[in-house]
Amino acid sequence: METVVERMRDGIDEAGIRRAGEILRRGGLVAFPTETVYGLGANALDADAAEKIYRAKGRPSDNPLIVHIADWDAIGKIAVDVPPEAKLLADAFWPGPLTMILKKSAVVPLATTGGLDTVAVRLPDHAVARALIRAGGGYIAAPSANTSGRPSPTRAEHVIRDMDGVIDMVIDGGDVRIGIESTIVDLTEGTPTILRPGYVSREMLDGVLGRVETDRALLSEDENLRPKAPGMRYRHYAPNAPLVIVEGAQQRVRERINALARENAEKGRATGVIGTDESQGCYTNALVKSIGSRTDEASIARHLYGILREFDDSEVSVIYSESFDTPQMGAAIMNRLIKAAGHQIISV
Ligand code: TXA
Ligand code: MG
Repeated sequence: METVVERMRDGIDEAGIRRAGEILRRGGLVAFPTETVYGLGANALDADAAEKIYRAKGRPSDNPLIVHIADWDAIGKIAVDVPPEAKLLADAFWPGPLTMILKKSAVVPLATTGGLDTVAVRLPDHAVARALIRAGGGYIAAPSANTSGRPSPTRAEHVIRDMDGVIDMVIDGGDVRIGIESTIVDLTEGTPTILRPGYVSREMLDGVLGRVETDRALLSEDENLRPKAPGMRYRHYAPNAPLVIVEGAQQRVRERINALARENAEKGRATGVIGTDESQGCYTNALVKSIGSRTDEASIARHLYGILREFDDSEVSVIYSESFDTPQMGAAIMNRLIKAAGHQIISV
């Protein structure tokens, strides 16, 4: 199949959105930008279309998809027993990087929800995404548009790299604004519970709801605790070269990474380093990439996945990363980075 690229970096192109909507309505796949990462869209109410997503990504079929809507009112058709917390969160954070788990209605096929009786719903803060959702029928299932096991795509080139020839269309909206996936909150049992950290922090949710928990499996090293979001259970992206996080006081982190890089150089092994605008000049004997500035945590989130992809295109035999425990998105950034590192952390 030829994958058509529609360029919409400067906003909505009505004719392009019509063509993309047509594809979705007849059961095809269209990748599109959102404010978090690129999504791989299909009609969420069409089981065959949803199944195509799993095939294109190579995704296990028990890992449910998020249904994207363009208006709050759309929720009534796909969810039942919607609790008052949902409206409070929507008023505070939608459109935006928050996904709510609700009880599903009968119109949502089990193919979309990975066999669960709940449905994940999100209203994205991206004009192209919302125009596409409306053109495609109003209910678009969309996981991140990467091959399963690869970093989520933050620009159209990443999607094309993974999906060219496999999907009908990619809408190129340029670089995304946030760069890590939405926060997921489960509203189906008792206290609202964070199943995946994201841009919307626990403190921000607490501020609206007063009481929020975090899925215990996310906070624990105990492998017997199963995360409630099936996708958080799977082995996650690991770069080709082993990734090791070095954490501690900044000066000591730099010294330790430099010592390790020197040892590697003596053995003829190339080292990669993930540093920041502030630290990148301090490293020697390494291929150094800056993830962003410590004074701008949004820049760190935005570049995380792209930098991991870049290192896969280089010839390093090990990558050391600083730790980025930033105020708002630190939990989300470190959740992704620690998974990519397979929990390899050196504390100095
Ligand atoms: O920011 C985002 O959320 C992006 C953009 C494209 O919107 N989408 C995204 O989708 O990250 P995906 O498929 O990569 O991650 C969805 C996560 C998975 O961990 C999945 O297991 C979980 O949401 N999930 C979906 N439906 C669920 C449900 N009913 N109950 C529990 N977890 C669910
Ligand atoms: Mg994903």
